[in-house]
Amino acid sequence: MAVKGLFITFEGPEGAGKTTQLKMLRQYLSGLGLECVVTREPGGTPIAEQLRELVKHHSGVEPVFAETELLLFVASRAQHVRFLIEPAVARGAVVLCDRFADSTTAYQGYARQLDMDFIRSLNKYAIGNCTPDMTILLDLPPEDGFKRTATRTETAGRHDRIEAEAINFHHLVRQGFLEIARNEPQRVKVVSALAAAEDIHHQIVELIKNAFGPL
Ligand code: TMP
Repeated sequence: MAVKGLFITFEGPEGAGKTTQLKMLRQYLSGLGLECVVTREPGGTPIAEQLRELVKHHSGVEPVFAETELLLFVASRAQHVRFLIEPAVARGAVVLCDRFADSTTAYQGYARQLDMDFIRSLNKYAIGNCTPDMTILLDLPPEDGFKRTATRTETAGRHDRIEAEAINFHHLVRQGFLEIARNEPQRVKVVSALAAAEDIHHQIVELIKNAFGPL
């Protein structure tokens, strides 16, 4: 494989199975002898993880305003790119990231309806040239996603601030992700999250082989 590594992001609504797929892909890539770094947004570095806590949960006293929310997600990204993602890709690792800039476009842009041009500039400011080589969009209707998260033992009955938004918000998020994929078909590959985990994994491996050749 070439000296420069790869940066692959996973996007999709709550309950799409991103974590499962990240684990399966990590196992596959590690089995090929590649260094594989799995990370997430918001978060991924100690400072960015602190921002994650701030943005996902509120104290109950003070609301998190939409503008603040946007800036916290982007601040977390700026830190994460510089401290973890860029150095890892530069040394030849494959970085797999659970959510990235498309989540800001979908959640804060399409669903919260904040200024899309401003979001584009902010994302560019935070990530510079560190754009994903490929993005896997695990797509499913929000109702199905929530059915899945409701039965997960670790999160059952506990929603973070954004998960707790009305279902219509999550429909807008889904439409946003699908529109991003329509606009950038070269980078963003849509995979139905309704299939069995093994089938989804095989589809993802095929997509990666087709795009980058044998790793
Ligand atoms: P998760 O890590 O459990 O998916 O939680 C992250 C939450 O934050 C999820 O509801 C999606 C949301 N989010 C945004 O609204 N904008 C962003 O830029 C990112 C990265 C996540």
